[in-house]
Amino acid sequence: MSATHATAALRSATIAHLGAQAPHFVIDWVDECVSTNTALMENTPADDGRVHVLAAERQSAGRGRRGRQWQSWPDGSLTFSSVWHFARGTPAPAGLSLVAGLAVAQALERFGVVGLQLKWPNDVLVNDEKLVGILVELSTGHARGLAAVIGIGINLRLPPDVRIEAQTGVTDLARALDGDVPSRPALLAAILAELERLCATYASGGFPALKEAWEQRNAFAELPVRICGDHTALEGICAGVDDDGALLLRTDTGVQRILAGDVSLRPLGGEAP
Ligand code: BTN
Repeated sequence: MSATHATAALRSATIAHLGAQAPHFVIDWVDECVSTNTALMENTPADDGRVHVLAAERQSAGRGRRGRQWQSWPDGSLTFSSVWHFARGTPAPAGLSLVAGLAVAQALERFGVVGLQLKWPNDVLVNDEKLVGILVELSTGHARGLAAVIGIGINLRLPPDVRIEAQTGVTDLARALDGDVPSRPALLAAILAELERLCATYASGGFPALKEAWEQRNAFAELPVRICGDHTALEGICAGVDDDGALLLRTDTGVQRILAGDVSLRPLGGEAP
C-alpha cells in the first residue's frame, strides 16, 4: 500500500470537507491495495475512539458479496472501507448492513440524487440499476466488543464498454446526476458523516430507530421476489424488514424471516442488479 502526492491531496481534501468532525476519523488514501476490506480485516485498528478509514485508487482483488469480484476504475469509482467499533450489548449486527446502505443513500440524496432505492440487504439502486455495492464484515476478539468493517464501492463514471460479470443493470453517479459528479473527497466526507450519525443511532436505539427510513426506500416493497442461496431458492412477496433487519418474505406457508448472509434477492423473473 503506498501513498502518492495525488492520494495525499485526496486525503487532505477529505479532512477539509469533514471540518469539525475530522478529529473523529483517521483517513488513509493509498494508490493501490489488494482490497480495502481485506486490509482492514487482516489488520483491524484497535478501538482508539476514532473511525479508521482506508480509501484506494486501485484494488487488485476488490471483493463483493457472496465471493464475487468488485471492479473499480481510478477516477471512475470511489472505493473505501471504514472500521466501526461497537460496545458489547449493541443490537444484533445483522441490521448494520442495512444501516450502511441507508447512510450512503441519505448522503447521496444531499448531493441531489433522486429516486435512490435500497435493495435488501444493502445495494443502493437508481432506476432499478446498481449504483453502490456494500460489503460488511465483522471482526471479533476486540477488548470492548465488536468491530464492523464497512466497505463501500460507488460507481462514479463507468467506462463506456463496461461489462460486469454476473450483474445486469449497473449505473453510475454521472448518469444519476446527469453530468456533474461531486469530488471524491466531498463524497467520502459526506458518507462518513452520515455513517457516523446513523451508527450512533443504531448503537443506542438499534435498527427499529432507522427501520422506517429504510422501508421508505425499499426497492421491492410488496413485489414478488426470489431469495437465492447457493443451493436453495425461496419465492414470495417482499413484506419489508423486521426490527433486526431481517427480510420478511410472505410465502404460501407463512412469513419467513431471512437474515442477511449468503443469499441474494432478485425480482421474480429478473436478474440480480
Ligand atoms: C457487492 O455489491 O457485492 C459489495 C461490493 C463492495 C465493494 C467494496 S469496494 C471497497 C471495499 N473493498 C472491497 O474489496 N470491497 C468493498
